[in-house]
Amino acid sequence: QLRAQGPWHCIIHAAGLLHGPHGMPEKRLSQLNYAQMEATFRTNTFGPALVLAHFAPLLPKQGRGVLAVLSAKVGSIGDNRLGGWYSYRASKAALNMLVKTASIEVARTHPQAVLVALHPGTVNSVLSAPFNGAEIGRPAADAAGDMLRVLDGLPAEETGSFYAYSGDKLPW
Ligand SMILES: NC(=O)c1ccc[n+]([C@@H]2O[C@H](COP(=O)([O-])OP(=O)(O)OC[C@H]3O[C@@H](n4cnc5c(N)ncnc54)[C@H](OP(=O)(O)O)[C@@H]3O)[C@@H](O)[C@H]2O)c1
Repeated sequence: QLRAQGPWHCIIHAAGLLHGPHGMPEKRLSQLNYAQMEATFRTNTFGPALVLAHFAPLLPKQGRGVLAVLSAKVGSIGDNRLGGWYSYRASKAALNMLVKTASIEVARTHPQAVLVALHPGTVNSVLSAPFNGAEIGRPAADAAGDMLRVLDGLPAEETGSFYAYSGDKLPW
């Protein structure tokens, strides 16, 4: 249905899961369990992977188009200093790899496409609520505005990158 209305110039995948019925993020290896890992990867990795598969072909073949997924800085392997949050970190690191890999393929048919993983910063939301999100998080509208500004400034050469809302490039 959406293909008929395309091409689409800005596609953003914003779903994500940190905690839920399967529990809070793991602090220790001993807390790892299959149900929580599966639920986290289904939402943070497998879902966005299928969004990439189905929506990247809807980007313009000629001219600029952006496909962004909301990742998280804690998914950075290079930046991991605190440990913990095993499922969430790993699911976002895997998501970042999917974005990078897809960017290489999509560039062959959509040379001006920008596929990017974005870190929104700490945002006041259901996801951050158990971690003082209401106190330390920014309003969602502020985070969205910042991320849209970053997207607006990214050239095609930056496809397959990982950026924070501030415009800083993040390590994988
Ligand atoms: N908030 C932060 O501080 C923060 C920091 C770093 C990264 N992020 C990332 O930013 C993104 C947005 O987070 P948020 O703060 O907006 O979280 P949120 O308030 O918990 O919203 C998450 C959204 O994802 C949807 N969702 C969850 N599981 C889904 C599934 N299996 N299928 C379809 N939709 C699903 C939820 O839908 P329902 O409402 O229907 O459940 C909800 O609309 C996430 O990827 C998150 O990892 C957030």
